[in-house]
Amino acid sequence: MKDPAKLRLKPNLQGYAELRKKFKWSDAEKMVDWFPGGKINAGYNVIDRHAKGPRRNKIALIYDDGEGNATKLTFQQLFEMSNKFANVLKKLGVKRQDRVFFFLQRSPELYSGFVGAIKYGAIASPMFPAFGPDAIKDRLLDSGAVVLVTDSVLKKRVYEVKDQLPELKHMIIVGQDVAPNEVSWEKEMASASAMFETVPMDPEEFMYMLYTSGTTGKPKGVVHAHKDIVECHLSTYWVLDVHEDDVYWCTADLGWVTGVVYGVLGPWSNGTTQVGLGGRFEPERWYKTIQAYKVTVWYTAPTAVRMLMAKGDDLPKKFELSSLRANYSVGEPLNPEGVKWAMDVFDNKPFHDTWWQTETGSILITNFPEMPIKPGSMGKPLPGIEAAIIDEAGKVLEQGEEGNLAIKPGWPSMMRQIWKNPAKYNEYFRNGWYYTGDTAQIDKDGYFWYVGRADDVIKTAGERVGPFEVESALIEHPAVAEAGVIGKPDQLRGNIIKAFIVLTPGYTDSPQLREDIQKFVKNKLAGHAYPREIEIMQKLPKTRSGKIVRRLLRAKELGLPLGDTSTLED
Ligand code: WTA
Repeated sequence: MKDPAKLRLKPNLQGYAELRKKFKWSDAEKMVDWFPGGKINAGYNVIDRHAKGPRRNKIALIYDDGEGNATKLTFQQLFEMSNKFANVLKKLGVKRQDRVFFFLQRSPELYSGFVGAIKYGAIASPMFPAFGPDAIKDRLLDSGAVVLVTDSVLKKRVYEVKDQLPELKHMIIVGQDVAPNEVSWEKEMASASAMFETVPMDPEEFMYMLYTSGTTGKPKGVVHAHKDIVECHLSTYWVLDVHEDDVYWCTADLGWVTGVVYGVLGPWSNGTTQVGLGGRFEPERWYKTIQAYKVTVWYTAPTAVRMLMAKGDDLPKKFELSSLRANYSVGEPLNPEGVKWAMDVFDNKPFHDTWWQTETGSILITNFPEMPIKPGSMGKPLPGIEAAIIDEAGKVLEQGEEGNLAIKPGWPSMMRQIWKNPAKYNEYFRNGWYYTGDTAQIDKDGYFWYVGRADDVIKTAGERVGPFEVESALIEHPAVAEAGVIGKPDQLRGNIIKAFIVLTPGYTDSPQLREDIQKFVKNKLAGHAYPREIEIMQKLPKTRSGKIVRRLLRAKELGLPLGDTSTLED
């Protein structure tokens, strides 16, 4: 329960029930700036409009390199940097809606480049810096990326697959080690003009894309349009509840949707000062960051919360954390213990759970600042969002019944396309609903409770991994003949990746072999996407058509009933 008198600031969203009844998306459209003729540019809304107004000299970004060295940039400075980058793209002959990818650590270059590409009218996409060559290749190849901005260190991984990327014309390199066939970020930015007219886009033209994992196949390119900014703006205002003097910190990397939407677009559209922290997760450094920049609003993930909890309550006591006003979390179920722990260590500031997906483009369900929190619940849908629990036939289920979490299509930040794969896109929509792939239930007060995934997608430490990607990487190892991959529940990480493998004849199991296989996958895909556990099998459960049945691997692992086995080969 919240005592309104004790909230430091009045929440931006007041009177949820009433607002649900009368809210129209056209109201939210008035919160962002438009060009004549119904054109819009999300980049203009996140940077330009502030640089042209009273927030011109307000700090937009406090970038900490992870060692406590801070670079502060105002909206005006980001305006100029993003203009320069747009001019660099122009000089390279990049066309409207060309794909411009980023493979960079969090840095001022990444933030300004990403926004600059959007202002230019390109489709921007940041990639997670821990990706290995296979993950990089899948994304650049499928998207037909024309430009890649990377740095002298990360580029080595790109060169391992570069000859398989015929459409990649330009590599822009941040740093000193620039080869003659590459473009130097420093040199081009130094000579580029700081003046650029942001391109008015049709609201349905594409702004950014991010690859995400599903049950089957390679990662798919989820494409978002410029109009998304309407909902990125509104949800940041209503849910994260930013106020003019807030210092906001989103811990997600820009390679994930949370980093893009709530680490760039939403907060800056609201003119909010935000912190960007480089380097790796480290409890002490995180507390230090809150203390050093007097963070007031904090958006992070359950695994991070559990890792902080595991470090004990004495550590946070060593820091001055009283600046915090509100905390939020996303990506996986947030344990009630996490909510309560935060109340103890952050002086009565619980975590508010938020639910959404790469595909939804913004928070759709949440515990609102003005409402009581039900620990363990995702909260309630935003005004303008119709969410329900439905069965496979599209029948809306009763309160308390478990089923598919579904949303009525048509919200502004909904994905517009799965890149080059309309069939995949259409699979999401059935019976007039968008099927999220999650299962959930609703309680008598209208709060939504997460149950699980309806498919095989694995959430490990909040990051989304497809079993097929891991299986594909595994079977490229000479010792692996067959592989089946599942998520195994884990106290700290939510799930870990577990692989069941059949060895190639001639290989024998040993700790070294398993380690070698793990390293192999880690190098190919990413640091987070390798199996922490490997079990050697004589045989994998398969259908008669030869498909590995992950459901049975999961049942075996968790001691669940096997269910229908009539389609199995053996
Ligand atoms: C899961 C992240 C439980 C869910 C923004 C969803 C959650 C998937 C929550 C999307 C939550 C996200 N409680 N589960 N509050 N938020 N998820 O695309 O399974 O990386 O479908 O987007 O994360 O993951 P994605």
